[in-house]
Amino acid sequence: MMSKLMFVARRALFVQPLGTTMRTLIRKVARFATGSSTSPQPRVAQQHPIDALYGIETSGVISASALRTNSSADLHNFGYVGSQPSIIRKALATIPNLDRASFVDFGCGKGRPLVVASEYPFRRIVGVELSPALCEIARRNGARISALHPERRPIEIVEGNVLDFEIPAGLVVIYLYNSFYARLMKQVAAKVARHQEKSGNKVFLIYYNPANAKIFDRSSALSRYHAAKYPCDDAEAEAAAWRDDSVVIWQSTANEMLPPRAGSAAKVRVTAGGNGGEVLLATA
Ligand SMILES: C[S@@+](CC[C@H](N)C(=O)[O-])C[C@H]1O[C@@H](n2cnc3c(N)ncnc32)[C@H](O)[C@@H]1O
Repeated sequence: MMSKLMFVARRALFVQPLGTTMRTLIRKVARFATGSSTSPQPRVAQQHPIDALYGIETSGVISASALRTNSSADLHNFGYVGSQPSIIRKALATIPNLDRASFVDFGCGKGRPLVVASEYPFRRIVGVELSPALCEIARRNGARISALHPERRPIEIVEGNVLDFEIPAGLVVIYLYNSFYARLMKQVAAKVARHQEKSGNKVFLIYYNPANAKIFDRSSALSRYHAAKYPCDDAEAEAAAWRDDSVVIWQSTANEMLPPRAGSAAKVRVTAGGNGGEVLLATA
């Protein structure tokens, strides 16, 4: 398996945008010059409130190099951190007919968005995850939800690269954190467009922390439906890496379109580090 140093170097040279590589280098040189040995990490408390609520385990931050699987997809991985449930719920509240839809998380990690999805009447709930270790945790979390709430839709976990996953037929809500670098994200956008063309089924794509929003904006298969910057609930704030996060939602264009919601065309600003894709809503 690639050593950690080789992995970081290959990613910096071939996958990361030049700006990110340069910022990382500058940070490392500054830390070296000031004698500081710690790298800034997002602030994430030991246990997220949703873990306490359900008795599951979705907390923490795991670097991409710690998640290596010996797959070529490793280089495109951003690593693990969970989305904020209150923000996922606000995003889901904008989409009609969830009872007719499948929910799919592309890069589901420990499965926090899947657990949130289980609170809704989805027809199917499935997460795709590259890391076998995270799949195991997500399966345990899913089993815990089924034991607590046998009336809810079971959570399915598929281990592997998101590019190899077959998108379910029928209405689909695809959920995506900023899980991959741009090159893989472009392949994901092309995959969604091919699915749309072949099946003609309606797709909503929720992108949380949408740093690569422009890739989906350029797809003729998708059109903006919603955009917002949401604060997370107070109870989550201590456990959150950031107190607010942005969400953009697209809908497929090849079938009946819903009118876009107010502010859906908002600009997305890419910020250095931290909350990487910030939706800029026009102020009145
Ligand atoms: C930022 S985490 C988000 C986890 C979860 N979706 C959430 O919002 O709480 C991104 C996850 O995507 C996974 N991932 C990265 N590249 C992947 C790929 N090519 N196929 C499947 N999963 C991938 C990572 O291992 C990581 O667990």
